[in-house]
Amino acid sequence: MSKKVKKFEDDPNTTGHSWDGIEEFDNPMPRWWLWTFYATIIWAIGYTVAYPAWPGIQSATAGVLGWNSRALVAEEIAAVNEANAPINSRLEEIELASITTDPELNGYAVSAGSAVFKTWCAQCHGAGAAGAKGYPNLLDDDWLWGGSMEDIHTTIAHGIRNEESDDARYSEMPAFGRDELLEKDEISQVVNYVMSLSGEAQDASQVAAGSVIFADNCASCHAEDGTGDREQGAPNLADAIWLYGGDYATLTETVHNSRYGVMPNWNTRLTEAQVRAVTAYVHQLGGGE
Ligand code: HEC
Ligand code: HEC
Repeated sequence: MSKKVKKFEDDPNTTGHSWDGIEEFDNPMPRWWLWTFYATIIWAIGYTVAYPAWPGIQSATAGVLGWNSRALVAEEIAAVNEANAPINSRLEEIELASITTDPELNGYAVSAGSAVFKTWCAQCHGAGAAGAKGYPNLLDDDWLWGGSMEDIHTTIAHGIRNEESDDARYSEMPAFGRDELLEKDEISQVVNYVMSLSGEAQDASQVAAGSVIFADNCASCHAEDGTGDREQGAPNLADAIWLYGGDYATLTETVHNSRYGVMPNWNTRLTEAQVRAVTAYVHQLGGGE
């Protein structure tokens, strides 16, 4: 049963809705609220006209102001490049070896080079440049191709054993087993000899025979005493620092199949200033000469 609610003289009109006899007054919105609401609508329309807003299939409407966050980034990059232009051109023109003796230039090169390294080199050489199997550690003074500013610059600019740069560093160790240049037991002997250069052979009785095989087959690249040859990127085999590994199995694989480490050339991917910056960065990591 619904009971009629008592009404007063100055009650506003009701909306006509009624729930269990409870009715709803039809109070108007406060004026201030209504105007604020209209203002937001006008603002929203203005905004969508002025700025990128309505999504389309390929892109959104551009907006009459032409504002664009991507263009803003490009502008910022252009501004930084412009600010760095003088020091970059100084970096490109100076003698390579003089970069390290110019504190301002060297400081700039090392920090710019560190950014280049993180972007372009860390995938292979590791974020801290400590390398991995087949990718040399750049923190030590054990160099395959040389550790002077000139040497490092040539290595980075042209790369190693790649097909893109005619001036890439190049050499090739023969695959002594695969190409049947040495018998299985000869490889075992020379591997034992190589192990003896920096530590202990697996089978000491093979070392003497191995040393003869080394002199005949390996010394032309790795030197008589096994200390390597930077002209050919032939690693020092006597220092217990290994690019691929110094255990019996890994050495046997290296001698059997050879190795062919490839590094891209950077002279077409980076500016000369960037190549020089990362050269200075690598040079100061610990092994620079
Ligand atoms: C795709 C992998 C790869 C990338 C990327 C790469 N490198 Fe290398 N890098 C190598 C390999 C592999 C070698 C060793 C090649 C060999 O066996 O001689 C090497 C060798 C070097 C050497 C010679 C070290 C020595 O002992 O003489 C330097 C210096 C070097 N890299 C610097 C850089 C810098 C700087 C960058 C970035 C601009 C870079 N690398 C990017 C793979 C890479
Ligand atoms: C024509 C020159 C050449 C000759 C000859 C040669 N090597 Fe090499 N050797 C190289 C080069 C270059 C590398 C580096 C390959 C790379 O980094 O991809 C290398 C790498 C190695 C390595 C890897 C070292 C490491 O740090 O992991 C070993 C071990 C080695 N050679 C042993 C030998 C032995 C043993 C012989 C003789 C049976 C020999 N090499 C003959 C050029 C030569």
